[in-house]
Amino acid sequence: MDRATAPAASPRARLSTGPDATREIGRRIGAAAGPGTVLALIGPLGAGKTQLAKGVADGLGVSAIVNSPTFVLMNEHPGRLRLYHIDAYRLDDPEEAVEAGLLDERQADGVTVVEWADRLDGWMPVERLVIRLDAPAGAPTHRTLRWEAHGPAHDRLAREALAVP
Ligand SMILES: Nc1ncnc2c1ncn2[C@@H]1O[C@H](COP(=O)(O)OP(=O)(O)OP(=O)(O)O)[C@@H](O)[C@H]1O
Ligand SMILES: [Mg+2]
Repeated sequence: MDRATAPAASPRARLSTGPDATREIGRRIGAAAGPGTVLALIGPLGAGKTQLAKGVADGLGVSAIVNSPTFVLMNEHPGRLRLYHIDAYRLDDPEEAVEAGLLDERQADGVTVVEWADRLDGWMPVERLVIRLDAPAGAPTHRTLRWEAHGPAHDRLAREALAVP
């Protein structure tokens, strides 16, 4: 297929113009997520990873308030599917945390959201949806979200939840 006839590549990025928009994107992901969904969130402090996680919780029908796990490495919340919320920021030794069961097989039945997933590089499940959040300079409420789906289920999820209508 030459360039002229090739289908346009789907843009794997979108702009959020405020926290509500980021939560709404998360809500769509949570609503479309299936058992075994893994979201790997990557981005600097204040990028909006927790806002996105709150939206995912909402989309899963989780009623608890979702905040970053501070004193434990993982929070669990019952919902349509169980939400496992991990924040890898404070991990001194990611390998030790993984060996201690940070990522376990129960997560295959639920939805796992990992903030600072880059700190668990090499241990994360291969099949996952990686979302990178960044704050462009000069626009305090703007965030770019760029994603990469690994595996057919996450590819489907990205198309369903992230494709701009
Ligand atoms: N478009 C946006 N999307 C998400 N958050 C935004 C946006 N614009 C402004 N914000 C603000 O940025 C902050 C994002 O905080 P949040 O806790 O979600 O970041 P984080 O990536 O989880 O940071 P940390 O690494 O510290 O956990 C919030 O105060 C939120 O109100
Ligand atoms: Mg956070």
